[in-house]
Amino acid sequence: MSRVADKVVLVSGAGSGIGRATATLLAKEGATVIVTDINRPGGLETVQQIGGKARFEEHDTSREVDWKRIIDGILEREGKLNGLVNNAGISGPFPATFETETVEQWQRMLAVNVQGVFLGCKYGVPAIRQSGGGSIVNTSSLAAFLGTPDLSAYGASKGAVRQFTKTVAIDCARKGYKVRCNSVHPGIILTPMGNAVMPSDKARERARRRIPIGDFGAPEDIAYGILYLISDESRFVTGTELVIDGGMNAI
Ligand SMILES: NC(=O)c1ccc[n+]([C@@H]2O[C@H](COP(=O)([O-])OP(=O)(O)OC[C@H]3O[C@@H](n4cnc5c(N)ncnc54)[C@H](O)[C@@H]3O)[C@@H](O)[C@H]2O)c1
Repeated sequence: MSRVADKVVLVSGAGSGIGRATATLLAKEGATVIVTDINRPGGLETVQQIGGKARFEEHDTSREVDWKRIIDGILEREGKLNGLVNNAGISGPFPATFETETVEQWQRMLAVNVQGVFLGCKYGVPAIRQSGGGSIVNTSSLAAFLGTPDLSAYGASKGAVRQFTKTVAIDCARKGYKVRCNSVHPGIILTPMGNAVMPSDKARERARRRIPIGDFGAPEDIAYGILYLISDESRFVTGTELVIDGGMNAI
């Protein structure tokens, strides 16, 4: 029960779904968790469920001022930052093809899903470095590997996260920073976001049949992968892609 003992880890988008499960598991394994989300009630509920080594910060990951305030606050209050999970994300309206999507929807998607991860790394890396090193996990998606006709901007945003993760990983490694950076690629996971892309029972059944393992994933299935990447068990792992998808990407 102490795979990340004494680490201070920020998890964005931790007021729901995968972020909440990740924050809960990290705390269970000994970390102090900074739960951040744009959704205050959701974030506070996560902290309450964890009970103890967690606190909440209201956070829009697309905003630079929020990152500055929150990272500075962690260094001041907790005295260090060892891990960062850039998990916050949006999927937008469904379906959204490149023909129906508006420029405003496209820009918002990239602002949260890509700029949010960029800012997390920009402000997270120096804080982790000055804390003696650590690990960043960026939540991408299975969508980073496939064409996603009904989620056009979403797919593009997750492809960008996959590529940018490798850039951060290699840049940090070459410069001798002790900061690892990896991406996680969930398949279809039962969260509010996952449910939103399966609007009917028929769509849900169709999606289920596409998963070789025969069922959807749970938020905890992703949280266990992130726990490994944040922990020192993965100390030789950087710039890689951890796909957790019931086999969908293998067919
Ligand atoms: N559920 C899936 O099937 C699935 C599949 C692949 C990837 N993902 C990715 O996993 C991550 C978590 O998704 P989830 O399924 O748990 O969704 P979710 O909707 O349950 O949780 C996302 C959380 O992010 C928060 N958020 C949204 N915009 C934000 C912003 N600008 N700043 C801070 N927080 C913000 C939301 O308030 C919410 O609490 C996302 O990056 C998503 O793209 C999910």
